[in-house]
Amino acid sequence: MRIVKEFAGLVDDEVELLKKTGRLGLEVADKMIENVIGTFELPYGVAVNFLVNNRDYLVPMVIEEPSVVAGASNAARWCREGGGVVSTATEQIMISQIQVVKVPSPHTAVIRILERKKEILDLANSTNDVLVKLGGGARDLEVRVLDSPVGKMLVVHLLVDVRDAMGANIVNTMAEAVAPIIEDASGGRVLLRIVSNLADRRLVKSWTRVPKDVIGGEEVVEGVVYAWALAAADPYRAATHNKGIMNGIIAVALATGQDTRALEAGAHAYAARRGRYEPLSTWEIDERGDLVGYLEVPIAVGVVGGSIKSNPLAKLSLKILGVRTARELAEVMGAVGLVQNLAALRALATEGIQRGHMKLHARQLALAAGARPEEVDAVVEEVVKSGRITLEKAQEVLDKIRSRR
Ligand code: MEV
Repeated sequence: MRIVKEFAGLVDDEVELLKKTGRLGLEVADKMIENVIGTFELPYGVAVNFLVNNRDYLVPMVIEEPSVVAGASNAARWCREGGGVVSTATEQIMISQIQVVKVPSPHTAVIRILERKKEILDLANSTNDVLVKLGGGARDLEVRVLDSPVGKMLVVHLLVDVRDAMGANIVNTMAEAVAPIIEDASGGRVLLRIVSNLADRRLVKSWTRVPKDVIGGEEVVEGVVYAWALAAADPYRAATHNKGIMNGIIAVALATGQDTRALEAGAHAYAARRGRYEPLSTWEIDERGDLVGYLEVPIAVGVVGGSIKSNPLAKLSLKILGVRTARELAEVMGAVGLVQNLAALRALATEGIQRGHMKLHARQLALAAGARPEEVDAVVEEVVKSGRITLEKAQEVLDKIRSRR
């Protein structure tokens, strides 16, 4: 703190601001990462109207962007009218990769490694008695020969049922433990031993039907399908389409203490699995003229483990959600992604997102300009009316309101 203060020329008030922490105290934060000088807060909202697998959920969301919680809550209401969202997660299998280079006869090595599968799986499982007792553990091996830019190499995939953990640490430990057997069997040299964030054995599939009258009629339903079709035809749009899905998924991930980078990496890699970047969802019109949406995305999350245990709000979020397993959490997150996507597409295909968005943005600007809660609405109204939605304008309007008074 002293070094940062000197380096950046911080004044005492600014240092005090850094020291002021919330529910995640400085001492805990200091054990979570390195060189800690504070903690960082974001708005924590709760999305409503979610009916997933016939159960009601209140969905905690942590996000800086206006309109996301409102959008999710609105679209969840439309989906509820059609019976809610059906969401199913596959088994919670994580993949650990073990790279083997300088293999004299790669195809023979594949066989040699597979011949020792049981020994390898047993050794992997010996690193985690607790997981095995809970019914999880290393399940299978896959070995591939890759043509890399520096010649042939092997990659071994260790498939591990990680149960309720996110699992990266578990599978990394296993990969490191089994590396010597793989070197011995292949005659090559093991280099990388690390989880793959393309968690395509840990998928969530979510599905919903929205009655056409609930969402605004035939034209709106058609508009949503056209919006999706652009994403299906064009990666430039698909990136934004998927960003909207991740608005929902990542907000829940932050609230529940997940590794958000792993989720983003997995989702986008999955979106490109067929060699072209594609939307993670599809929307079509069913025989009744209703709108039907489907999302398929890898979601590797945990309800046990380090960062969740140490962050009191992450634990609280899981309690508000009422989920007990990683699988159920993933199923709800898939549903949130699909519903968030619907909110964005409907807005884009009708009035555009800027009207609602700008109003909420203006609220943030009003607060940033120093408006007190009772002044915010008046500032927002004038700022939006002016069409100049900037901090300067918010300041100008606030000054005007105060001087009038
Ligand atoms: C903004 O955060 C998300 C959207 O751009 C998503 C989309 O375009 O589908 C509205």
